[in-house]
Amino acid sequence: MRRKDLPGRFIVVEGADGSGTTTQARKLADALDGFYTAEPTDSKPGTKVEEMISSEDYSPEAIALNFAADRMIHLEEEVLPRLRNGETVICDRYLHSSLVYQSALGAETRWIETLNEPALKPDLTFVLDVEAETGMKRVEKRGKDENIFENLSFQQEVVTRYRDLEDLIENEISVIDGSRNPKDIHEEIVSKTKEVLDLP
Ligand code: TYD
Repeated sequence: MRRKDLPGRFIVVEGADGSGTTTQARKLADALDGFYTAEPTDSKPGTKVEEMISSEDYSPEAIALNFAADRMIHLEEEVLPRLRNGETVICDRYLHSSLVYQSALGAETRWIETLNEPALKPDLTFVLDVEAETGMKRVEKRGKDENIFENLSFQQEVVTRYRDLEDLIENEISVIDGSRNPKDIHEEIVSKTKEVLDLP
């Protein structure tokens, strides 16, 4: 999807579990007076996919299809109307999560890309890079989700795939060292956003 007729800015925050995407996306939305949103949403496919990733019973492809369906509904109901209105939208996880997590589950990367082709490309994407061990320690502190992703070996695969994303995606990606304290990370994200998006 192209960005014609969209005066607003669309920024995505990505990273492995425990990398701090929710904290940083919320802080960025506050700093820019933007709209915070997250995937998966509570749409029907979004709710279904939460159930699917809590069981061993579904194929990577069925999971990827539901994440993609949830994403298109999210775009059409929540994101695009705000971008048309000139607002800044900050999204906690987006299609990069599908490229990373669903390929780590075994779905084919090219197919996931094709599936997500209709989804609007962000103006800027941040990837919070932390070692899987660090991320999992944070996850254990806040309480683990009982899903198929929150274990160390899967998260190691996820971290590696995020590091390889830059070669796969044409749009602007900024990799941020997510192991530092939240305030320093936030300041780096805000200054990079202003620089890339030419904001005051
Ligand atoms: P979420 O409930 O937001 O968990 P968290 O708060 O830990 O980010 O997301 C659930 C999981 O779904 C998370 O581990 C990342 C994963 N995910 C995918 O596998 N594919 C996707 O397309 C998205 C958006 C998320």
